[in-house]
Parts: sequence; structure tokens; C-alpha cells
Amino acid sequence: MILLNNQFVSRDEGKVDIEDRGYQFGDGVYEVIRVYNGKLFSLAEHLERFKRSMVAISLKLPYASETLTDNLKTLVEKNNLRNGIIYIQITRGAASRNHGFPNNTTPVISAYTKEISRPIEALNSGISAHLVEDFRWLRCDIKSLNLLGNVLAKQEALDHGCQEAIFHRGERVTEGSSTNVFIIRAGKLLTHPADNFILNGITRRYVIELACQLGLPVIEKSFTLNELLTADEVFVTSTTQEVMPVVKINQSTIAEGRVGKWTQLLQNAFESAIT
Ligand code: PDD
Repeated sequence: MILLNNQFVSRDEGKVDIEDRGYQFGDGVYEVIRVYNGKLFSLAEHLERFKRSMVAISLKLPYASETLTDNLKTLVEKNNLRNGIIYIQITRGAASRNHGFPNNTTPVISAYTKEISRPIEALNSGISAHLVEDFRWLRCDIKSLNLLGNVLAKQEALDHGCQEAIFHRGERVTEGSSTNVFIIRAGKLLTHPADNFILNGITRRYVIELACQLGLPVIEKSFTLNELLTADEVFVTSTTQEVMPVVKINQSTIAEGRVGKWTQLLQNAFESAIT
């Protein structure tokens, strides 16, 4: 079953109008929420960010947010999802094609579940990343459906045999194509501040809290490409990638190609929270 607006229907019934503004303009926002053992992880934080993204593009949820919360929980139950994700998006709806906001359209909400497992192998061995100039727009804080910049960067990374692209604006490292980037240097954890250049990841915030609990000082400050490439440890975070070690970036080997000490401690703390 999928959720379409306020109804549960079969996937075949989930039809989108060809003039839906999400389809034509990417005029909408989304969330990806992790489900561990049948429970939605950090649901309140995801829904808060979903609301924030909607406000940023002048969209309103067409029903109470409590209803949405209930609907998402029901969707997980109906689909007997134990471990996986919920993808949810809202678009401005269907209207005759014009760039400006149409009058009186009804937003379209759709959500579905997908079974996925934790990327255990990669979490144990780390991934390689490829550097890409950040050619995206200046509102990366909105979880917008417009992901072309992210898609092109990820594909460039894949074409180079890497699993993630790390964006930089000139010398400044911003984030990954679908992750936030952290480095450890001289016993401190650094990550780009939550401004308009990055998406303020829910996992990012969670990991910052875990680091504080572990006594690892956290500095939310941008860092340079050189600081990235000569860091003691590098990892990226996201709802699906969790705390993912990066052991190679372009030609540079990080942390002797192994999962670093702090990264491992954060992974352990994260794992305790989800199991
Ligand atoms: N991506 N930065 C970008 C550009 C992202 O797309 C994501 C998430 C993150 C991490 O956010 P979070 O920790 O809340 O998942 C950072 C999701 C998973 C996706 O598009 O599939």
C-alpha cells in the first residue's frame, strides 16, 4: 500500500497528473525516514524539517500534522515493514503549466515504504569519495525535489569508482551528494554549519549529540579541501548511510584506509541507539 493524500491505496492506484508541479518543476519537498524494527527513527525531527521545507516554499500541509504522523505509522504497519525507509513528498499539485504559483491547487502528498538493510559491509570497511565542485543553488537547506545537481554529482562519483561525491565551493567543503560530511582533526570533530549551503541532516544532528556525550569536542565550522584530505578521520552521515567512514578521497588515503577510532566509537553509539 501507499499513502496518497489522506488515503491508503495500492501502488497501481498512485497516479500522478502529467502537469503535477512536482513532476514538471520539482516544485515540492520530501523526507526519507528510517524504520528500524518497525519503528520510525527520529520521526518528530523529520516531520519538523518537512514542515520547515514546506514553509520555505510557501506550501501548507492540507491536513493536521498529527494526521500525517498517524498515517505514516499506519503505512509501516499495513506494509509490515520491519527495516527500511519511508519516502514522503508533497508537491504543489497539478495546474496548467506556468512558473508562478497557481491559484487554488491542492497539494499532493505521497508516501511509500521500501525494505532496506543496513550497509554493514561498507560501515565496516569504509567507502571512497570523489570531489565535485558544488554547482547547486544557494538554498541547499530546503529538502527540495530538485535533485539534479546531487544526481549528476553522485553519477560522476560512481563513474570514478566511488560511492559518494563530496561537494566543495572553491576551497570550502560543504556536504555530500546525499550526506553530511564530518572530519576529525587534532581530537576535534568538524562539520559545515547548518546554513543555506547544506541540508541540516537529522543524522548530522544526532551524531553531534553523540559526539558531545562521548566527550569529543564539536566545531560547526566549514573546513577546506586541504583540511579534508589531511584529516585524521572522515565520515559522512545520512538516514540510510548512518555513520559511514570515508577511507579514500580522489587519490588521497584517509586514516590509513581504515575506520578511524572516533568514527568507530560514534558508529557504536549510533548502533546502540537503533537496536
Ligand atoms: N538524503 N545532505 C543531502 C544533500 C541529503 O540529500 C541528505 C539526505 C543528507 C542527510 O540528511 P539526513 O541525515 O536527514 O538523512 C544531507 C536522503 C537520505 C536522500 O535523499 O535519500
